[in-house]
Amino acid sequence: MSNALIAKEVAKRRTFAIISHPDAGKTTITEKVLLHGHQIQKAGTVKGKKSGQHAKSDWMEMEQERGISVTTSVMQFPYGEALVNLLDTPGHEDFSEDTYRTLTAVDSCLMVIDGAKGVEDRTIKLMEVTRLRDTPILTFMNKLDRDIRDPLELLDEVEQVLNILCAPITWPIGSGKNFKGVYHLLRDEVILYKTGQGHRIQEVDIIKGLDNPELDQRIGVYADDLREQIELVNGASNSFDKELFLAGELTPVFFGTALGNFGVDHMLDGLVDWAPVPQPRETDDGQAVAADNAAFSGFVFKIQANMDPKHRDRVAFLRIVSGQYEKGMKMHQVRVGKDVRISDALTFLAGDRSHVEQAYPGDIIGLHNHGTIQIGDTFTGGEKFKFSGIPNFAPELFRRIRLKDPLKQKQLLKGLVQLSEEGAVQVFRPLINNDLIVGAVGVLQFDVVVHRLKSEYNVEAIYENINVATARWVSSDSERKLDEFRRKAEANLALDGGDNLTYIAPSMVNLSLAQERYPEISFSHTREH
Ligand code: G4P
Repeated sequence: MSNALIAKEVAKRRTFAIISHPDAGKTTITEKVLLHGHQIQKAGTVKGKKSGQHAKSDWMEMEQERGISVTTSVMQFPYGEALVNLLDTPGHEDFSEDTYRTLTAVDSCLMVIDGAKGVEDRTIKLMEVTRLRDTPILTFMNKLDRDIRDPLELLDEVEQVLNILCAPITWPIGSGKNFKGVYHLLRDEVILYKTGQGHRIQEVDIIKGLDNPELDQRIGVYADDLREQIELVNGASNSFDKELFLAGELTPVFFGTALGNFGVDHMLDGLVDWAPVPQPRETDDGQAVAADNAAFSGFVFKIQANMDPKHRDRVAFLRIVSGQYEKGMKMHQVRVGKDVRISDALTFLAGDRSHVEQAYPGDIIGLHNHGTIQIGDTFTGGEKFKFSGIPNFAPELFRRIRLKDPLKQKQLLKGLVQLSEEGAVQVFRPLINNDLIVGAVGVLQFDVVVHRLKSEYNVEAIYENINVATARWVSSDSERKLDEFRRKAEANLALDGGDNLTYIAPSMVNLSLAQERYPEISFSHTREH
């Protein structure tokens, strides 16, 4: 395929993820986005933690029980002239590692903020992650059907706490019971809100022009309040600047209610108009691969086991960076140095799978994985480079895992290695004994692992406490020094799920002593896949 044709497909695509604090409304907004993308007919039928119904993006058992998103799902849908890929990120703070890797696969993010609560701690953490790549951010101030905080104060808080400039694109007229709608600052239009329309795409009720006398007839005293406020807003806040937005320094802000399905379309319009098309990605030799490069390339950012209980398989999620995927094509898997023919890549409509014939940069395809694909793997049309920047983080919590039925040791190890490939957890096997140590970044991961071991591998395991404070991946330029270290520090060494040598420290003091004692050894907090 020629570069020009690929460039045309690239120009259509927007690949983004939603970041928010739990309960700010990410699931609800996802549902409304799918409604606008005509992927579901009627919202409200797929969501509701309390009613026992679930949004389309939450399909695993764990998620359903707990009402949180453990997995990342991918949803593709057309919106206007564009083709949008929405990557769902796990909502719970324990899954930061998984979320981090998902954020390497998108080109922009939507930040959802609960207008009554403002900036919450999980949002702060996620914004730190997006900062690592200066990802452009759009903002949705949610829950305007409730009494929210003063909008100017909210913008101020975002600017101060998250250190990003705010440019309001829409401005709310009242909130809670008195929520009348929004004024679109760029279009000079008032869009009126109607209650009870949250489950469908609404007919828009627009009044053109802030000075239009019709506004006074429709919203009464709110009209003059609005005019005053807009004057203030125009004077006090930033106007939209696309360059600053693309640099991750300014965020366009939209107000609305996800539940009432109001304002989500304004945000989507902004996404399509301004968010970046699929961006280049860096390789380990310091080059960047551009999306309109004709040769195929992509990287795996996520592995998901047993997505469909009927299939019992594992799927590797690959973000296409350049070129084109075509059914039946040969790809080069750089880490193992082999060519593989892929004839059954998947696309996802949140758990509904369908086979794709073609896919382009920005798209995510699912590759069936029989244990040969790992997170971070690069696939190319034949070239040998690897994409960089998808790390593992050293876990901070450790437990020894033990079987209830000792005969199932092999199954346990298999399950743990597969779950660690997937990035759900990390597993360490000490050099000097047969312990199995599970390491996690967040405590909820432990529960997930035991649950999944039981349901997917049929092994019942329990945890025991273990005296481990932290882990570091070790390496050295000198083979000799590494060998010596291996002998002398054997009692503290283990192999991780990918057989990489790891130093397991009983305390932070122990770690710093080891670092002092072995200056030729590097102790790394992250490991690039
Ligand atoms: P999350 O994925 O970010 O965790 O949030 P989610 O969409 O699940 O929303 C959290 C709660 O906030 C839900 O209520 C949801 O209905 C509600 N919500 C989302 N958007 C709005 C909005 O614009 N206005 C109002 N008033 N509420 C909103 P819940 O009671 O926890 O669950 P449910 O059983 O009602 O679904």
